[in-house]
Amino acid sequence: MPYSRREFLTLAGHVGLGSALLPQQVIAAPDRPNPFLQHGYAPVVDELSVDNLAVRGEVPREISGTYLRNGPNPAYPPISYTYPFDGDGMVHGLTFDGGKVAYRNRFVLTAGLRADRRAGRTIYGGLMNPIVPDPRFVPPDGDSSRFKNVANINVVRHAGRILALYEGNLPYELSPTLETKGLYDFAGKLRGAMTAHPKFDPVSGEMLMFRYSLRPPFLVFYTVDAAGAVVREVPIDTGASFMVHDFVFTNRHVVFFLCPVVFDIAGAQQGKPFLAWQPERGTRIAVLRRDGTGSVQWIEDGPYFVYHFMNAHEDSGRITVDYVQHGAFFTASGAPSTLWRAVLDLGAGSVKRTQLDERMGEFPRIDSARAGANNRYGWLPVSAKGDAPEAFGALARYDLQTGKTAVHEFGAGREVDEPVFVPRPGGKGEGEGWIMTYVYDRATDGSVCAVLDAIDLERPPVAEIVMPRRVPHGLHGNWLA
Ligand SMILES: [Fe+2]
Repeated sequence: MPYSRREFLTLAGHVGLGSALLPQQVIAAPDRPNPFLQHGYAPVVDELSVDNLAVRGEVPREISGTYLRNGPNPAYPPISYTYPFDGDGMVHGLTFDGGKVAYRNRFVLTAGLRADRRAGRTIYGGLMNPIVPDPRFVPPDGDSSRFKNVANINVVRHAGRILALYEGNLPYELSPTLETKGLYDFAGKLRGAMTAHPKFDPVSGEMLMFRYSLRPPFLVFYTVDAAGAVVREVPIDTGASFMVHDFVFTNRHVVFFLCPVVFDIAGAQQGKPFLAWQPERGTRIAVLRRDGTGSVQWIEDGPYFVYHFMNAHEDSGRITVDYVQHGAFFTASGAPSTLWRAVLDLGAGSVKRTQLDERMGEFPRIDSARAGANNRYGWLPVSAKGDAPEAFGALARYDLQTGKTAVHEFGAGREVDEPVFVPRPGGKGEGEGWIMTYVYDRATDGSVCAVLDAIDLERPPVAEIVMPRRVPHGLHGNWLA
């Protein structure tokens, strides 16, 4: 039995930490081939540049821009591999112009990967089995950490810079042709790591982001203005080092869910798990004004875990947060990850949570023009009947106003990734445009990029762009108009 998607998301998740996880914290992988190095997850080694890809159907001529997506793709046979903590980042780019599509993929050429290339093999272990890299291959300014910055979780663009993100370290800046330019620290203003899930306010043009660390201040919220300068830095006293993968914002607030997964240094010294699920802590929700004024409002809740949020908005002292809830972390709780809504009552200091759907899913997305506002639509990869255990075979489009859900099933043996919303140029309405996702086909060991009408999701794809070879399953990406 391979790991199930549920096991993977519950046991491992993608915390992407550049810090120490001790092997005993992780339920040991049974003696079997790593499913995250096979089939749709197997890495590719070639870096291609291919114009004018074959298309089934017709790519709308008005789609103009580039879809970039990042994900783990080990360049050399790994010594230790825990998906998706490990694996060199590889960015896949599809550029659309006048109905034609071009493909280009490149490794993020991190300092660690450069050292590996010098050695002709990997000299790094993995997050669960760290190894001090052989100093003969690591230059003085190279990555000498036991935990390689693999820059493999997300790829975003802000103020003209394209950044490949890994939440345990600084981002790497890429050129528009996906050449790696180097580490980027916001002119020295970002010390330490950057979340892989920054948020983009479509109204102000700001990028909101945070970092977390093992030492105080455990959590720091940053505002980056539309020109790319860090203009605000707000430490949040959380009292412990919580693992925080994602957050949400509204027009006035940012909201962090501090689920009870903490780095327990003292416990680790006594042989307890270093990254520990401590349900007795419950979940602490921090609500902070975006302008940094006032104190943090804390709302206490029961224990659960969240990797990814769909969106949030506020109205009359209430903040509505849509997200994917996991029953627990590091434990086989049996509770599938599903879409939930939490309504925070800032006056009463309370929260009420409701499950919105029973389908198992992860990697939610919205029309980014509605980020921080009251969105009607959200998209989510979900399980379909007969799916391989580590795969999602369908894509759901939720209508959060009517409660109706449209589901597009891709067929037996076909597996989807996180989707991205592509707005129709000149379109005004929410969801007016297309949804794209890579679809891996087990029967052919090939991939297409499916282009679907975002609202009428159940209709056959508008186009399927035939990839020149398989694009491995990945994590997160974005549309660059
Ligand atoms: Fe993520």
